Formats: sequence, structure tokens, C-alpha cells
Amino acid sequence: MFENIKEGIVYKNLLNGEWIKSKSESTIDVHSPVNGDVIGKVQAMTKDEIDKTIENSKIAQKNWAEKPLNERAAVLHKCADLLEENISVLSDFLQKEIAKNKSSAISEVKRTASFIRFTADEAKHMEGETITGDNFPGFKKNKVSVVHRVPLGTVLAISPFNYPINLSVSKIAPALAAGNSVILKPPSQGSISALYVAELFNKAGIPKGVLNTVTGKGSEIGDYIVTHPGIDFINFTGSTEVGKHIAVIAGMVPMLMELGGKDAAIVLEDSDLRDAAKDIVAGAYIYSGQRCTAIKRVLAINDISDELAPLMLEEIKNLKVGMPEDDCEVTPLINNSAADFVQELIDDALKKGAKLLIGNKRKENLMYPTLLDNVTTDMRIAWEEPFGPVLPILRVQSVEEAIEIANKSQYGLQSSVFTKNIDYAFHVASKLEVGTVQINDKTERGPDHFPFLGVKASGMGTQGIRYSIEAMSRKKVIVLNIHEFS
Ligand code: NAP
Ligand code: G3H
Repeated sequence: MFENIKEGIVYKNLLNGEWIKSKSESTIDVHSPVNGDVIGKVQAMTKDEIDKTIENSKIAQKNWAEKPLNERAAVLHKCADLLEENISVLSDFLQKEIAKNKSSAISEVKRTASFIRFTADEAKHMEGETITGDNFPGFKKNKVSVVHRVPLGTVLAISPFNYPINLSVSKIAPALAAGNSVILKPPSQGSISALYVAELFNKAGIPKGVLNTVTGKGSEIGDYIVTHPGIDFINFTGSTEVGKHIAVIAGMVPMLMELGGKDAAIVLEDSDLRDAAKDIVAGAYIYSGQRCTAIKRVLAINDISDELAPLMLEEIKNLKVGMPEDDCEVTPLINNSAADFVQELIDDALKKGAKLLIGNKRKENLMYPTLLDNVTTDMRIAWEEPFGPVLPILRVQSVEEAIEIANKSQYGLQSSVFTKNIDYAFHVASKLEVGTVQINDKTERGPDHFPFLGVKASGMGTQGIRYSIEAMSRKKVIVLNIHEFS
């Protein structure tokens, strides 16, 4: 199935249906976070090759857009089937390349296949409308606006390391369904898993050039590709730092951005603390906290932390720490510098008086789950996104104070509110400046047909199957002026 995409451990790029090497003769080593081994090398593409790729994508898009929607949808269904048939290769590679534990890796692939199928079906319901002129004063019924949706052209999809398959496909599938061509720039760490998926799309019958890939370090080729005049839409998921940079330099190109988060769990005094502890721990530590939607701070009202913290500790002690193939929830972080950063935040909090309840233990890039109590707002961990398995508890005196601290963050992705009083939960939810509030559960993106969005530094635009298709298509209006007969 994958014989074309590599020579030995050197992976190529998909261009116009063929797998090719870069003329740069330069490659990027992809190291496994599990043991540091080089598990593959990907091409460092040149600017000239990026130009050719974009040119090819633009030509291919015209025919793809002409293809009847039901035929585009059928090809997407085939992609989903192939993904599922190759679940074992893909999930094994995810474990090696990004140290995602076995069951989460399998679920990433399954979820992605379901995502593609739902997208293919949803696209068939993206119907237009007709509007008659007489709704507006001074116009008559003979002016009829026929509104339908057309693709934007060539979509640049840039995905992050933590879901290299799902967060690549959640851009590719809606873009293709809408009739765009796609250039995928995968994360360097995660690129191989994404290239496998590109080959499955290729094998499923996505026409030549409709999906091309570009590999190379974001810091080297990123600015060039995002400012390229051939790009009609940028769909980016990654850090706020890079997202803001792209938004500044890219100019008048429409964008959909999902960025960082500092999701708060607000725990009220009347909540079921055992349930809350379970959800918070799962939300904070799964995949070592390397999720934009991980719970990244707990705001506990009054002294309920005295009860909540021991319940959380019980849950944390049940987490398995170790290697992805042993299906441990807490696995090595993506690299050593990510672990150094998490350590910095822990050290800063402890120096300033936070109480260590568990953790602060590290073996290279494997960080043990760490829980800090009595965290105060002068500590960096109260505000910064660790992207690692550390969770601060901030004790607050009132719900108002919890809301104030929650909203002071630069981020606005999601929040959780734990309480038995659903009416009050809605009140709190209405005050929180985030894209989504979860009542009595952990923060999370799925199910994938829900709208998913971040406000403030957490993103712009809305993703989610229908919303992504809408974002990557536009209205086309044709006005029919019907001759009136007296
Ligand atoms: P990242 O460092 O921002 O990288 C994301 C992607 O951007 C990678 O493909 C990267 O390529 C590329 N890139 C880097 N510089 C670029 C530039 N100048 N122009 C264009 N592309 C560039 O993020 P990450 O470390 O992979 O992911 C972690 C971050 O993503 C966290 O902050 C997390 O919260 C956020 N995230 C958000 C969501 C969400 O839905 N809100 C989902 C997942 C992750 P290279 O790998 O080659 O550098
Ligand atoms: O890392 C960001 C992802 O969008 C989070 O997705 O909530 O399904 O883990 P998730």
C-alpha cells in the first residue's frame, strides 16, 4: 500500500499524484519521542518546488470543482474505508512518531474515518436559497437572487503535532468536499503519519494535484507559503504564537485558526466532587496534557479543594505512566525542550509558594503527572499553557472571582463548570469568554459536528464539519431579473 511514498526511511512528497523527492537533497530527521531513534526523514522542499506545487494545485482544482458533488463525496467515502483498513499501520506509526498511547492512536484513526464519512454526507446538504426582491422596500418579486456555494480555490492546511492525522484530515476533507484543492503542510514531527494518510487519499482516487503535500520546517518555509499569492484560504491549527504571526503577515486571505488554550474547570461547592475529580484528571492528563482542550487550571470555590484534591490524587495515582505501546495515558512529551518548559513552570510555581501534591518527577522527556495546590495569580502556571501533564489548583473565594480569573486569560477556548444546579451553570456559562462551556464534563473538541471555536488568542472562525465546509466555500449570487408582463 505504501511502497511509493518512501525509499528506505526517506519519505517523499505527493505532487500531482506522484511521490517525489526534493531537489534540495536536504531532509529533516524525524526522531521518535519514545527513544530518540530516527524513524524517518522528510523532504525539506525549496521555494521553487512550493511554487510548482501551488501552480499544480490551482490547475487541478478547476476540474475537481466541476466534478458532481455526489462523486466527490463518493471518493471521500473510499478514503474513509482505506483509513479504517489501514488502522494498524497508522496507529502504530502515531505511537512511534508522537508517542500517543495505543488506544488513543487507534481512536484518532477511527474518529478520522467517521469524520470523513460525516463530511461527505453533510456536504450534500449544503443547499443554497432563493430570495425574492419584494422583501425590501422599492423592489418587486421579479428580481430573484439565486444563492449557492462555490469553493474558494486552493486551501493551505497546516496541522500541529498532537493530532497529525485527525487535524490534517479535519481540514482536508471539508475543503475537498467543497470543491477546493488542498496543500497539506503537516507538522515536521507528525509529518510521516500525515504523509501515509495523503497516500490513502491518493489511492482512494482523489484526482492528481487535488491533494499535494509540502514538507519542510515551518520556521523556514512557513512564511513563504502563507504569503504566497496562490493560496486562497489558510486553515491553521497550532500555537497562538505562530497563528498570530501568520495572521499578521498573510494579508487579505481568509483564515480559520484554532490555537492555544488555558481551559479552566470551575468547581462549585454543590458539585459531585468524585465525578468532577474523575473528569478533571482525565481532561488534564490524557496524552500528557498535550491537547489544546486539556483542562489547564482548576478554579475551586472556597475550601472545596480540601475535599477535591484528595479525590483528584486518587485518580492521578491510577494513571499509567510510561510508553505508548503499553497504553499508558502519560507518555513522553514530544521533545526535551517541551519537557524543559513544563519543568520551568513547575519550578516557578514551587519557588513562589505553590504546594506540590504529587509529581515533579522527570525522566528525560517523560514527565510524571504533577498537581499543584495553592497556586496564585503571580505564578506563570496560572496563565501559561504548559502543554504537559501539570495542573494548578487556584483557590478562589467566590464564583465571581473564578469567572474574573477565568476571563483574565489571553485564551478563550473552553471552560468546564461543575455543579448540580443547571440553572446556575447556565448563568456562569453566559459570563465566560470562551468558545464553548462544558457543564459537568471535561473540556473537549468532539463530537466533531459540534461547532468548535476559540475566542481571543484561541483562534478565529469556527470549525466543525458543517462550519468548516462553510468556511472553505463562499456564497455565489446570481440575480435573475424576470421580465414583467402587464
Ligand atoms: P506550532 O509550533 O504552532 O506548529 C503548528 C504548525 O505550524 C506546524 O505544522 C508547524 O510546522 C507550522 N509552522 C511553524 N511556523 C510556521 C510559520 N511561520 N508559518 C506557517 N506554519 C508554521 O504548534 P504545535 O507545537 O505543533 O502544536 C501545539 C500548539 O497547538 C499548542 O499551543 C496547542 O494548544 C495548539 N493546538 C490548538 C488546537 C485547537 O484546535 N485549538 C489543536 C491542536 C493544537 P513545523 O512543525 O515544521 O514547525
Ligand atoms: O489539541 C487540540 C485538539 O483540537 C483537541 O481535540 O479535545 O478531541 O482532544 P480533543
